[in-house]
Amino acid sequence: MSEKTAKLSIGDETFEFPVLSGSVGPDVIDIRSLYAKTGLFTYDPGFTSTAACDSSITYIDGDKGELLYRGYPIDQLASQSNYLEVCYLLLYGELPGKAELKDFANRVTRHTMVHEQMHYFYRGFRRDAHPMAIMTGVVGAMAAFYHDSTDIGDPVQREIASIRMIAKMPTIAAMAYKYSVGQPFVYPRNDLDYASNFLHMCFSVPAEEYKVDPVVAKAMDRIFTLHADHEQNASTSTVRLSGSSDANPFACIAAGVACLWGPAHGGANEAALNMLREIGTVDRIPEFIERAKDKSDPFRLMGFGHRVYKNYDPRAAVMQESAREVLELLGVEDNPTLQVAQELEKIALSDPYFVERKLYPNVDFYSGIILDAVGFPTSMFTAIFALSRTVGWIAQWKEMIGDPQKKIGRPRQLYNGSGARDYVPLSER
Ligand code: CMC
Repeated sequence: MSEKTAKLSIGDETFEFPVLSGSVGPDVIDIRSLYAKTGLFTYDPGFTSTAACDSSITYIDGDKGELLYRGYPIDQLASQSNYLEVCYLLLYGELPGKAELKDFANRVTRHTMVHEQMHYFYRGFRRDAHPMAIMTGVVGAMAAFYHDSTDIGDPVQREIASIRMIAKMPTIAAMAYKYSVGQPFVYPRNDLDYASNFLHMCFSVPAEEYKVDPVVAKAMDRIFTLHADHEQNASTSTVRLSGSSDANPFACIAAGVACLWGPAHGGANEAALNMLREIGTVDRIPEFIERAKDKSDPFRLMGFGHRVYKNYDPRAAVMQESAREVLELLGVEDNPTLQVAQELEKIALSDPYFVERKLYPNVDFYSGIILDAVGFPTSMFTAIFALSRTVGWIAQWKEMIGDPQKKIGRPRQLYNGSGARDYVPLSER
């Protein structure tokens, strides 16, 4: 029994529950015995006050605007580290030494190609299919192509499946893009770094050489790093819930991809850019701001607000800097979409509605602007988020599978439907 306890009074009775402390962050009331002791459930749709697991991977302090991967602040990692090193950190808990990083990079690099048969799998999709629809299908189908790494009870197979997914996600996403524009698939190049290789697979064509600009590659690497993990968000919780039934890792990550697609989550970067385009010119911003405030209108300013960050999104600060660098390089400062973005940011940050509700631009607001400038269609934005987040999903999935206390996830409910009643035959209805 921990030292601190919480007392719950129901009628004349008082029940006591242990209070558990993590290394940092709020304590939690351990209510695992609540139902047995009281016959009651807790009610928390949206999990706003419920911790569903123990984790030592990522920590967020939403009030301070702090995001730590394994204790390291995101701004330090984004400016001093790189995505592959961050992948290692998330997966194994510590920053790698030189030899460890070399070995890890080598293992990832050796798995970047996908099974040749997968090319035919793509051809079953319509050319105008959304890349996230393709990704959901293709990632799930990996279990059919790589069934020698689906035994979740075997740590070696878990490791191989993890490396395979981190290595192949850029290839899968780039193929979804190439398929949509009717260009031939481009094989990965293992002499390039992770971000440069992805850009190469997306933008090179057999007819001419494609040179990856280091500024663009750096911005891409940062986008990957900033999206690599984010604690128990909707898609990560989906991966954990799927994995709690011992489903194979490819199925679990496919479930994460599907959840990420929603516009309230990873789909926000696409929705944000589409919104900027819909606004079109700076003079139309007030009209959209009014719509966002109008409670009878479902419209929201996409790329603003966050469930956890109620101060600012620390990823947005880094992304904003990257956006400036890329736009300077590509010379698109006069781009009308960007002008709308800059003006909208200014207005929203000073409007009392947004200030009172602490609605700041989030990471997706800026990442969409960068990806647009680099030449990606909006439909690829969430696919890029998915490839970046894969390592986080895998790290969280591995942590859960390795936890001796793992249980199948099974939320309870507050039932509001009909009580038991007798079936009425069709002839009597
Ligand atoms: N535009 C206008 N009003 C907003 C917005 C917005 N983007 N976001 C929240 N509000 C208002 C909301 O109407 C409510 O007002 P009131 O208190 O008067 O009823 C208040 O702010 C609190 O909103 P909430 O819906 O209770 O907040 P939440 O924590 O449940 O929602 C959110 C978080 C991210 C779903 C929401 O802010 C949103 O829909 N934002 C736009 C979509 C977006 O950019 N999502 C990306 C999140 S970052 C990437 C990721 O991690 O996936």
